Amino acid sequence: MTARILDGKRIAQAVRSEVRARAIELKAEGVVPGLAFILVGDNPASAVYVRSKGQACEEAGFHSVTERLPAGATQDQVLGLIAAFNADERIHGILVQLPLPEQIDEDTILASIDPAKDVDGFHPVNVGRLATGQDCLVPCTPLGVREMLIRERIQTRGRHAVVVGRSNIVGKPMVNLLLRYGEGGDATVTVCHSKTVDLGAITRQAEILIVAIGRAQAVTREMVRPGAVVIDVGINRVPDPARPGKTRLVGDVDFEGVSEVAGAITPVPGGVGPMTIAMLLANTLKAAETAAGARAAR
Ligand code: GUN
Repeated sequence: MTARILDGKRIAQAVRSEVRARAIELKAEGVVPGLAFILVGDNPASAVYVRSKGQACEEAGFHSVTERLPAGATQDQVLGLIAAFNADERIHGILVQLPLPEQIDEDTILASIDPAKDVDGFHPVNVGRLATGQDCLVPCTPLGVREMLIRERIQTRGRHAVVVGRSNIVGKPMVNLLLRYGEGGDATVTVCHSKTVDLGAITRQAEILIVAIGRAQAVTREMVRPGAVVIDVGINRVPDPARPGKTRLVGDVDFEGVSEVAGAITPVPGGVGPMTIAMLLANTLKAAETAAGARAAR
């Protein structure tokens, strides 16, 4: 069997064009969705991510601003920027790119963002609302996985989903989304992580296997149940054997082997990655719509 490829690039384009269409309508009502990025230090990967997120904003017709601080910036400087964006009515979303330099406490920073502008869904209020099944802003990557499953008509209800990884950014919110009532939820969920004994014995039980462990090609074909839906959240840069001295991107799943047993699989690149940016735009749009509704009611 050869797995169906879940084309994240195509699905993300569909989401982005819907977001853009809705942004045009909002503009007619005098609201331009606005997203602020805060980038601290000179991590090259972070700079690339922020640039491509800014470009996506432009394509969607959003207003965006990027504030850059040097690697030696103080926590108070970052808090000052956040306070200014919290108070700025043109800004509906605030994204502090992670990781932050070690002198800055991530939890303090994330908790200082207005939860209504927390388009990453990392503020404890949004985390709590997600865990209790209330409407909230949800982290973009797991939200993108859910969107993919829904648009590809992959049933989650009553099925056994195994999530490998327990991060605050992907694993834990993914579990909470799969446990919600209704579309894209109602799954039976098992969570595995780096201390799990005999990972393969558990992943082999998965009808839907979602992998976010940050280890290149860690999930191999023996670990996958025939016909399973495999969602690979990993992005790892490894040496390219075909091009000495060069690198290539691979996921946390051994795509070649696993695509021979899985029923459906996301590629890397072109799977979950593009969905993350699309959902960031969707979250910013949602925050702008909520803010506009609140302003109209004032
Ligand atoms: N760094 C890696 N992933 C993310 C993300 O989803 N949001 C932010 N703000 N930083 C990240």
